[in-house]
Amino acid sequence: MPHKSEPAIIAIFGATGDLAHRMVLPALYEIEQAGELPKGTIILGIDRIGGMNDESFRTNAHDAIQAHSDGGDTKLANWCAKHLFYQGMDTSSASDFEALRKRLEELERAQKLPGNRLFYLAVPPVAFGPTIEALGTSGLNKSTGWTRLVIEKPFGHDLASSMELNALAQKHFREDQIYRIDHFLGKETVQNLLAFRFGNTLFESVWNRDKIEKVEIVVAEQLGVEDRAGYYEKAGALRDMVQNHLTQLLALTAMEVPSAFHADDIRYEKVKVLRSIAPIKEHDVLMGQYMRGEIDGEGVVAYQQERGVAPDSKTETFVELKLSVESWRWHGVPFYLRTGKRLKERVSEIIVTFKCPPVSIFKPYKECELAPNVLIIQLQPNEGFRVSLQVKKPGAQISLQTEWMHFSYADAFGSLPDAYHTLLRDVLQGDQTLFVSADETLASWRLYTPVLERQHRIHPYAAGSWGPGASS
Ligand code: BG6
Repeated sequence: MPHKSEPAIIAIFGATGDLAHRMVLPALYEIEQAGELPKGTIILGIDRIGGMNDESFRTNAHDAIQAHSDGGDTKLANWCAKHLFYQGMDTSSASDFEALRKRLEELERAQKLPGNRLFYLAVPPVAFGPTIEALGTSGLNKSTGWTRLVIEKPFGHDLASSMELNALAQKHFREDQIYRIDHFLGKETVQNLLAFRFGNTLFESVWNRDKIEKVEIVVAEQLGVEDRAGYYEKAGALRDMVQNHLTQLLALTAMEVPSAFHADDIRYEKVKVLRSIAPIKEHDVLMGQYMRGEIDGEGVVAYQQERGVAPDSKTETFVELKLSVESWRWHGVPFYLRTGKRLKERVSEIIVTFKCPPVSIFKPYKECELAPNVLIIQLQPNEGFRVSLQVKKPGAQISLQTEWMHFSYADAFGSLPDAYHTLLRDVLQGDQTLFVSADETLASWRLYTPVLERQHRIHPYAAGSWGPGASS
């Protein structure tokens, strides 16, 4: 059944921080503009700096939304004035949580709200645990309406820490109240993987080891570490991108047909894929780090020269892995996951290479080398997909050439909504389909923790290249 939204208070912890400014607040305003924010919904911005009031928070949020979206001035200012409120608090103080409860109740009375509450933790990962614990012990995990908790990756930094975080969250909230965001799942093109695979019969009968040679999942970025060295130095590309985003893409590509388009059924099938991946062997991992180089003709510094990075840092900014999904469908088909920063182009795609025809009837002719059919699902930019086909070049000679059939989202539908827009709308509607379950986080960390525990050689690559030379 389609889900429906009811008005709520969206309480954002870390409301004056980077994530709230760049993503959460602009997305909420986009939802409002799309007419999808339930009437009466208000936002309570919380931060631990204090020193603001409703008025100054409205100005602060207004400027952030304006800088990160194309919101119109007067309309936006009016919306902020009516819908935004502020609470400064020390999140380690029980009495401040008591004050927060009073404020929520006051706002609910004044705005005639039914008691639905969404707590969004836009705070650094170290603050997840203490904030969840305080919400639980202060009784804010219950209300007269629904209560939901949103957390962003990283959900822990290895298996033990993710077990701890899940246990804590589940001590105070039911799993159906917890929304773990992996923003890749909010991208239209990623959701379209489900429509593509389960809304068409064309590919299902060939989506297996009999017809597929290999699958490559590539997320290449041109950006470097920017000003996130504090986080990235400890994370590296495996934790930052592979453990979550690329693994989610793999799960959606490899999963079996769910019994219904329902969060539980879809997440169940994804977990099955993750559990069937064989332990990753040392020689199936390639790690690299960017040296100085050029991106689009502009010189850029090496990772070790970036602000906040140790000059002898061994953090990987590139990873390539070969995974084996040991299921009847996929046994023997390699899945390559590849991601890196400061690569030649920004491109995220899933490349499915089919097997060549087993016998060539064109053998006697020149220029008739058979090439495999390739399906490229382009997630960003130039969202869409293309399929390569062998065609005969016109003329008396028998000669084959590869040509591509294209589908472009932009041509068919114009612009696409931002991932945060989709995800926040779904939280408000109580739809967990695009969120990561506890079981998925554990299955994924179970797979990657042994890789993280090994020492790897870090291969240098020039910024602006496609990664270390050995990468296939
Ligand atoms: C984030 C990572 O989760 O995803 C960043 O922490 C990365 O390092 C970003 O740059 C990529 O997301 P997108 O949507 O820009 O492709």
